[in-house]
Amino acid sequence: MADPDTAARAAELRTLLHHHSHRYYVLDAPEIPDAEYDRLFAELQAIEVAHPALLTPDSPTQRVGGRMLDGFTPVRHAVPMLSIRTETDTTAGGAIAFDERVRNALALPPDAPPVEYHAELKFDGLAINLRYEYGVLVQAATRGDGETGEDVTQNIRTVRGRRGAGGQIPLRLQGPAGALPEVLEVRGEVYMRRDDFEHLNERQRERGEKTYINPRNTAAGAVRQLDPDITAQRPLSFFAYGLGELRGWDQPPTHSAVLDALAAFGVPVCVDRAVVQGAAGLTAFHEAMGARRDALPFDIDGVVYKVNAIALQRRLGFVTREPRWAVAHKYPAQEQMTRLNAIEIQVGRTGKLTPVAKLEPVFVGGTTVSNATLHNLFELRRKAVRVGDTVIVRRAGDVIPEVVGRVGSGPRSPYVRNFRMPLACPVCGSAVLRERGGIDHRCTGGLFCAAQRKQALLHFAGRRAMDIEGLGDKLVDQLVDSGLIRTLPELYTLANDDRRAKLSALERMAEKSAANLLAGLEKSKTTILARFLYALGIRHVGEATAKDLAKHFGSLDRLMAASVEQLLEVNDVGPVVAQSVRTFFDQPHNVRVVEQLRAAGIGWPEHDGDAPQKGPQPLAGKTLVLTGTLPTLTRDEAKVLVEAAGGKVAGSVSKKTSYVVAGMEAGSKLDKARELGVPVLDETGLRELIDGTA
Ligand code: IVH
Repeated sequence: MADPDTAARAAELRTLLHHHSHRYYVLDAPEIPDAEYDRLFAELQAIEVAHPALLTPDSPTQRVGGRMLDGFTPVRHAVPMLSIRTETDTTAGGAIAFDERVRNALALPPDAPPVEYHAELKFDGLAINLRYEYGVLVQAATRGDGETGEDVTQNIRTVRGRRGAGGQIPLRLQGPAGALPEVLEVRGEVYMRRDDFEHLNERQRERGEKTYINPRNTAAGAVRQLDPDITAQRPLSFFAYGLGELRGWDQPPTHSAVLDALAAFGVPVCVDRAVVQGAAGLTAFHEAMGARRDALPFDIDGVVYKVNAIALQRRLGFVTREPRWAVAHKYPAQEQMTRLNAIEIQVGRTGKLTPVAKLEPVFVGGTTVSNATLHNLFELRRKAVRVGDTVIVRRAGDVIPEVVGRVGSGPRSPYVRNFRMPLACPVCGSAVLRERGGIDHRCTGGLFCAAQRKQALLHFAGRRAMDIEGLGDKLVDQLVDSGLIRTLPELYTLANDDRRAKLSALERMAEKSAANLLAGLEKSKTTILARFLYALGIRHVGEATAKDLAKHFGSLDRLMAASVEQLLEVNDVGPVVAQSVRTFFDQPHNVRVVEQLRAAGIGWPEHDGDAPQKGPQPLAGKTLVLTGTLPTLTRDEAKVLVEAAGGKVAGSVSKKTSYVVAGMEAGSKLDKARELGVPVLDETGLRELIDGTA
């Protein structure tokens, strides 16, 4: 038996760890270093090992896998998990037909007011039932056949969502103990975010291992893993969309209020949802979300409409196993089959050779796709695709379309050869090499290679780099192919009289667009060091690293003179990046390019390195608290804005708080602000305050 002190300490540790994990994963505002979190965690684990009786199902230690499962125990659902009818007519017709069915079933006369609906996203993952008893997660089950699912509680406890973006399955509901329902079953979807999926695949690719097909299968596979440790390594998230069994809870009268209540319990609910009126409201939502589909951080395969009033839902009831009050309205599929016509090689900015599939054009995820990446030779071999095969193409979000595999596994013509990487660059003829142990083949031609030159120019001109308006890929092709541009600095001599004439003489280049390009070039000359560094396209120096380098050194000369050791002192710069920067500036031709660009008039304000740059400080002495989701800024970005304006960001609201900046789904902090009379701003208000337009 554990003594009362040990039991009390275990309870204290659980509370502490819950608090800090919420700060870290949900609010993205940790209060203690990771090592300290790990220490508390280890202390609790040690107590639980010594005193198994003190191990509670909601213990934070239960999130990290644990014992191996030897098969899943069947779980009979207290309330069956039904599916919904799918409207495959992806036009507005789908919404209109549903509204008509609802109105007919309710026997509404034609002049009756529109029905109120709740419109939400159809998440593409795996349906899960979460059972909370007195606020504690006691069981999680898959849908199975709707009557009986599988007990995946251990695995589901590892669903952490994404730091700063929510999606974590709470082991314990928020709210005063007395107010938590005896039984609350939450239904929703476990899914994988697109960026998490891409990172996972990138890691697999770097290791030369098998890549995953799509986020949905990966998420579903992870939940149904027998080893919870493997599930724990997969970045999974969750959104709630409904309820199962309820006991001891006054269910709110509308579906939208149910989701609000779940959100207040700390259950992740997607903010992209709306209460709308009639078929017109449904179609507007379908269209609006269709337009935003690519920009969402996760895959959706449609939207879901639900009659909002629970009383009306009860009146409508079910036909066989589908509710009459809900429907899924699809979008065009993000995976399609088509024929692989050819495999070509594309040469990128860093010389990387990418095999690109030339496809029989196919409509995927809302656009027609005829090229898709095959990533590298090893992946191509593993996927075992060959010219003539029927393949699956996936296009989701703004990620480049890719061939995920071949359809079927039957025999093929022996006359189709296995694909081979060329020994010479198909663009410039330079030797192609693969680093020892590396995955990628590269052209060694550098800027001698027209393909690399084009990509380097496009990167240099990009919006996040020098932001040269009017310089797109068509024009870059012309500039390079005509021989007008061989190096980056030559861009800035296009304004010289002799060259200007040649520019205007390019095919389809009217006097006006030449003038636009020259104006764009002129404007790009005033920039900041971070953008300039990023624009140079130094290997391993992305936007974030460029910012870190600019901030640390403050001037280009100091950076160019820095040793590897000095570079390693920069935040987040490791040996690979440090060496890459040093190597870049050790090449005389790169130094020449930099000098010529500066001579052309490109410039930026310099400062003394890490010493803070003082701009106007409208928020000096002010403390702000951020809460909820802002429309365009992430929490980090908002924090950077506030700090750059001289303000401080605090984690909790007090009388000393100057402003609370509240976004969607703002919770207790907003209430506290109102209670204390602290002024509340939205994102626009914050921006106005910083710009001094308030
Ligand atoms: S409601 C009785 N809402 O789509 C209504 N389902 O057949 C039950 N899904 O596998 C489902 N997003 O997991 C509902 N916002 C959403 C959803 C959603 C995804 C999945 C669900 C099920 C299928 C519906």
